Amino acid sequence: MLRVAIDGPGGTGKSSIAKMVAERFGLEYIDTGAMYRSIALKTIRENISPDDEAAISEMLGTTTIDFSNGQIFLDGEAVEKFIRTNEVSMAASNVSRHACVRAKVDALSKYIASVRNVIMEGRDIGTAVIPDAEVKIFMTAAPEVRAQRRYDQMIAAGKTADYDEIFRDIQQRDYQDTHRDLNPLRQADDAVLLDTSDLTIEQNINAIADIISEKCGDISCDGPKSEDMQ
Ligand code: DC
Repeated sequence: MLRVAIDGPGGTGKSSIAKMVAERFGLEYIDTGAMYRSIALKTIRENISPDDEAAISEMLGTTTIDFSNGQIFLDGEAVEKFIRTNEVSMAASNVSRHACVRAKVDALSKYIASVRNVIMEGRDIGTAVIPDAEVKIFMTAAPEVRAQRRYDQMIAAGKTADYDEIFRDIQQRDYQDTHRDLNPLRQADDAVLLDTSDLTIEQNINAIADIISEKCGDISCDGPKSEDMQ
């Protein structure tokens, strides 16, 4: 079994890097932030306040979240294209503080990690979701660097972007994610710290590949176990 847990604040490039490392090592890439984002999307669509825990809990009673072929589905709908907006980012950070939301995402994340060789990324993977992961990495980058990367991505995608607004959002999400009561973002004691501020994408991938190889030696991944994901 090989389970790689990657945690860190938003905008460190965790997702794109983890995807490429997953390919290199034949691991299933699981983005737990996408699950929180999907739940947040549904609260926005249903006009539910992120503070209204009772309404969110009731909503979750009739909500299904699934991964199929690396794609996230909310109540059977592929929602990747709707969950990357600033509004959803902030709502995801807000709703993720509620116990009912964390329990839902935790259950699915833990199940997937029990039947697959995974590289799973989020905020609490090494501390709470897979505390016994074979490899744990905590990725950081200076907030200014993360804001600049996000700004560059948006400009490259032909969107308008305001650096100051992006920087403020990053700082607010960092604060919320590290200060909530339940499983806040923090580095697990046994996680390797990787500061990506001065690393190119290629250097970043190589650094993670080195950590995995160093921790596990010559790994042969058996690929998925027999059970299929739900
Ligand atoms: O990784 P991301 O930016 O897509 O995550 C969106 C939000 O979801 C993040 O601000 C906090 C929450 N989250 C969490 O609480 N725990 C995780 N394991 C992953 C994300």
